Amino acid sequence: MRVLFTGGAGKAGRHVVPYLAAAGHQVLNVDLVPLRHPGVADLVCDITDSGQMFNAMTAHIGMAGMEAGPPQPFDAVVHFAAIPAMHLRPEVETYRVNVMGTYNVIEAAVKLGIRKIIVASSETTYGVCFSNGEVDPKVLPLDEDYDIDPMDSYGMSKKVNEATARSFQRRSGFDIYALRIGNVIEPNEYDRFPGFFADPGQRRRITFSYIDARDLGQIVDLALRKDGLGFQVFNAANDTNSVCQTNEELLKRFFPKVPLSRKLGPHESLLSNRKIREVLGFMEQHNWRNYVKDLTA
Ligand SMILES: NC(=O)c1ccc[n+]([C@@H]2O[C@H](COP(=O)([O-])OP(=O)(O)OC[C@H]3O[C@@H](n4cnc5c(N)ncnc54)[C@H](O)[C@@H]3O)[C@@H](O)[C@H]2O)c1
Repeated sequence: MRVLFTGGAGKAGRHVVPYLAAAGHQVLNVDLVPLRHPGVADLVCDITDSGQMFNAMTAHIGMAGMEAGPPQPFDAVVHFAAIPAMHLRPEVETYRVNVMGTYNVIEAAVKLGIRKIIVASSETTYGVCFSNGEVDPKVLPLDEDYDIDPMDSYGMSKKVNEATARSFQRRSGFDIYALRIGNVIEPNEYDRFPGFFADPGQRRRITFSYIDARDLGQIVDLALRKDGLGFQVFNAANDTNSVCQTNEELLKRFFPKVPLSRKLGPHESLLSNRKIREVLGFMEQHNWRNYVKDLTA
């Protein structure tokens, strides 16, 4: 597919874009900074500028794209560009960039007839990660029909973006899927895991989950290939938690009052990935146990 990808130079994008390129997609990376990956074209653009988004979505995919003559329409847009957390920029700027940027990207894609749009949402929408104080989830595991209620500007921006996606899906009938991405782990970050095992409390706010950046590439590729689902929200997480402790130990120590909606496997991710497995056919390739052998700190 011809894919316009926003934010491909970032932590997640620099693994997801190469995954998509290797899977045979032609990718134009739209970002404030170039990715410079072989075979992937870059266009430096600002998602907060609607004109630039309309223009980018009618552009060639780099010099190679010019060989076919006039610009060819994109088949899909994958939108990852954002301020990706609290405490990086003033709250109002995080909200502005994420909310208006996502509006601009989705509006341009829909009005230009691009029928598949995938947007990066976040596990922070569940309202635990960036909440003041120690907040319990209402129920575990976290799954997609949870009544999300974040209190911070980043989580709010992602909740609003899901609403924007849903509204544009109703308007267009196109497929717009939001991925509630868990904590992204790059291949060089597995050396942090023994520290997580020694002090699992540092992973409480993200309910101990994670997503390998390359497995996130697989999820995006599967979402690109799966048509006809309308508006959808999918958690994007690996199969198990990012710590070696069992759910029995974790729940007793960190979430003693939180009810369970179903029986859990001993290490099953508390950010449930059941829907991506059952609906998209996700099969994780990069469980941390492939890379971390030392279960002591
Ligand atoms: N990293 C995580 O653990 C995590 C978890 C959940 C959700 N997410 C979401 O996944 C997406 C990617 O996150 P990431 O960790 O790769 O973030 P990142 O900050 O590493 O990458 C984001 C990219 O967006 C670009 N960008 C920022 N503002 C822009 C603008 N105005 N115009 C164009 N490009 C702009 C940046 O240059 C950067 O390359 C984000 O939407 C983030 O909210 C990330």
